[in-house]
Amino acid sequence: MARTQVVVVGGGPSGLLLSQLLHKHGIESVVLERHSREYVEARIRAGLLEWSTVALLEEAGVGTRLLHEGLVHDGFELAFDGRTHRIDLKGLAGHSMLVYGQTEIQRDLADARIAAGADIVWEAKDVRLHGFLGDGHPRVSWVGAGQPQELECDFIAGCDGYHGVSRASVPAAHITQHERVYPFGWLGILADVPPVSEELIYANHPRGFALCSMRSMSRSRYYVQCALEDKVEDWPDERFWEELRARLPAHYAARLSTGPSIEKGIAPLRSFVAEPMRFGRLFLVGDAAHIVPPTGAKGLNLAAADVRVLHRALDEYYRSGSETLLHAYSTRALARVWKATRFSWWFTMLMHKLSEEALAYQLQLAELEYLAQSRPASQVVAENYVGLEFAA
Ligand code: APR
Ligand code: PHB
Repeated sequence: MARTQVVVVGGGPSGLLLSQLLHKHGIESVVLERHSREYVEARIRAGLLEWSTVALLEEAGVGTRLLHEGLVHDGFELAFDGRTHRIDLKGLAGHSMLVYGQTEIQRDLADARIAAGADIVWEAKDVRLHGFLGDGHPRVSWVGAGQPQELECDFIAGCDGYHGVSRASVPAAHITQHERVYPFGWLGILADVPPVSEELIYANHPRGFALCSMRSMSRSRYYVQCALEDKVEDWPDERFWEELRARLPAHYAARLSTGPSIEKGIAPLRSFVAEPMRFGRLFLVGDAAHIVPPTGAKGLNLAAADVRVLHRALDEYYRSGSETLLHAYSTRALARVWKATRFSWWFTMLMHKLSEEALAYQLQLAELEYLAQSRPASQVVAENYVGLEFAA
């Protein structure tokens, strides 16, 4: 039977970044992605990178376009009660963030993998994991071009997201899954209009949360909190722009550029963590193991943090035979996951309309006012937003 060292299930950011870093260390992998490259790259996702994620992408050899085209952001604004407070990320936490769409990262990684002669199986259907528990002999089967295929391997990296097959292959008795679904969603719009501000604006408003982001200085990304039962067809562009204007401070509302949406969608918000993240020869990575509400812009950055820990562990194993870092993977990854999950939850509860109760809104305003008046309080926000320092 055909064999490889690491089978990577999932060709999203986690899977391609892991495969590329393994390649850089001379470790062979095969990526199995159930959709086409075009389909994966067409998905509109987040676009805010922690500096540690930028450094990892540079280590993977895909930093050139990122550093040339990415927008460096030294801060962002909180808008509330008709006013704004800037969180000075660079000044308070010593790091900036980089605005660069996940679509671009996906494209850069796929280009790099293909240029390196990578074995990526696009449209791999019916992927199944076998023999990964204990010291079994892991193998993965799938259907490719209508033909049954199978690969033996040393390890399986489950990089196949929240709805993937990897976590679902773990026996229920071996895994604990923590989940909280928030009672609202985000309606997101992409439009080729200049952003309303050079930095991101997170707005708490009695009508609901709004976020002003961007992909470039000519392409804006906006979100408004909406009801879970809302459908995209309930939100023609005009209604979206009117609602966004209503939730921004007057000086921003007055200068908002609007235009036709080139993408519009509604996403639910959830906090989800699976423990542990390792099951014998299977390692869960990124969204396969955890989901955070997008408020803290942590999803892609947490996935990159998992890849950082796992690729170093696999590198140590293949270089020296030591399994020390492999045994430490789950504990080290989860230490960061839980802190980011807490921050994302806290920021979500602070900025969204949670009920019609006046007290809930007053408590949010009190906390936002405190953040605006207290440098240490703003520093806590800044250091969590830019990403906590890694232990090693
Ligand atoms: N077989 C093969 N591939 C699969 C399967 C399967 N059974 N199930 C899912 N996949 C693929 C998906 O098509 C997707 O391309 O796995 C990939 C998982 O990618 P993501 O869901 O993007 O997860 P991840 O790579 O961990 O990246 C996390 O993506 O969703 C955003 O907000 C998230 O920014 C974060 C980032
Ligand atoms: C985005 O640009 O898509 C984005 C930015 C910041 C967030 C979430 C999403 O917190």
